[in-house]
Amino acid sequence: MMNAMSLADLADPAVLPDPYPVLAELREASPFARLDGAFVVAGRHADCSAVLRDPSASSERDRSLLASAAQRPARGRPSFLSLDPPDHTRLRRLVAKAFTPRTIARLEPRIRAITKDLLTAARAAGQQLEVVGQLAYPLPVRIISELLGVPVEDHGKFAGWSARLAHSVQPVLGLDQEQATAQVEAARQASDEFAAYFADLIAARRAHPARDLLSGLIRAEDDGAKLSQDELIATCVLLLVAGHETTVGLISNAILALLRHPDQLAMLRADPGLAAAAVEETLRYDAPVQMTSRVARGRMQVGDISVPDGAMVLLLLAATGRDPEVFPDPDRFDIRRGATGHLAFAAGPHFCLGAPLARLEATIALRAFASSVVEPELDPHGLHYKPNFNLRGPDQLIVHFAAMQAA
Ligand code: HEM
Repeated sequence: MMNAMSLADLADPAVLPDPYPVLAELREASPFARLDGAFVVAGRHADCSAVLRDPSASSERDRSLLASAAQRPARGRPSFLSLDPPDHTRLRRLVAKAFTPRTIARLEPRIRAITKDLLTAARAAGQQLEVVGQLAYPLPVRIISELLGVPVEDHGKFAGWSARLAHSVQPVLGLDQEQATAQVEAARQASDEFAAYFADLIAARRAHPARDLLSGLIRAEDDGAKLSQDELIATCVLLLVAGHETTVGLISNAILALLRHPDQLAMLRADPGLAAAAVEETLRYDAPVQMTSRVARGRMQVGDISVPDGAMVLLLLAATGRDPEVFPDPDRFDIRRGATGHLAFAAGPHFCLGAPLARLEATIALRAFASSVVEPELDPHGLHYKPNFNLRGPDQLIVHFAAMQAA
């Protein structure tokens, strides 16, 4: 019988390197309710998929019966990630055009050029590559900064705020009240610092518009009541943080899985056209965003559980990628599997806006890694996970190699 303890196990540092046995147990026991029904856990693909598409599943998480006043995010600045229609629809629509697969495809030469620069710099440094710091992190950070119009030199300023906000998207599992409040407070401070930073940048860009997304959003704000200054700031912070803290996990998790499955890496090296498939398989096998949540608006059904109004539903996205009902032999990493329908980018109205960008960046990075790094080997002492069990990925991944060919 599953109990609330095993959910808290996900926050255990000893579980971080491989949460999949715990996730499998939780999935098999799910759906189940705790805290007198105010908290429901869903881990099966069918249940999570249904909840994500259910109009009664609200993304306004501070409506939850469980959100104490202390845990409520600074109101007034929720991004559209945490809004329902009609505000969600209005705000998402303003940026959606910038993220369609067609628009994103135009970034391909720039993504290739940055990847090449990063690998060339790594090559000059010797026969060792720290995948996260030298490739997986700087690539998406540069791209989202350029796209949005945030000076990449300011990165030192906002990297810490971004990590703290990302840290706060983990449920407060395994934390006592004091720790939970501290996590919320750290996020609130980061959010305030971000807001002040963007207020200055917006003023500067309003005076001197450029060809970037920020200038476009400012025009939309100026055009009339399309979005308020608070909404503009919240949208910028969302895009910058989402663009920072997720794709890094996808690229690193993919390279790690390939290093642990040399036959798959050899296949990719022989046929770099398989890179996009390797990215999809990584999303299913080792999801960079492990979980999300919804709050029932009115009574809602999750599998055989009737969920009351205001109850929080935790969706274990990473467990759904290994659901044997959908993916046969789910613990096998197989880049030729051709699996579609994973929920790593969620589903329904909040389906990840940045999915085309994340896919393109990761595909280019994997192709470059597989074709240029010769005989890579994972350093057994060089793997370390960041202490974030939701936005999952290593913060250090050291690879030794025999040679690096020009990317
Ligand atoms: C591998 C990388 C990524 C993964 C796994 C990922 C995953 C997700 C997931 C699961 C959601 C849904 C959250 C929910 O509704 O509860 C989401 C939403 C979102 N993602 Fe991503 N994401 C990634 C990269 C990006 C990038 C690069 C951006 C772009 C800048 C981005 C922007 C967003 C935005 C704006 C939303 C909110 C969409 C909405 O509420 O309508 N993501 N992402």
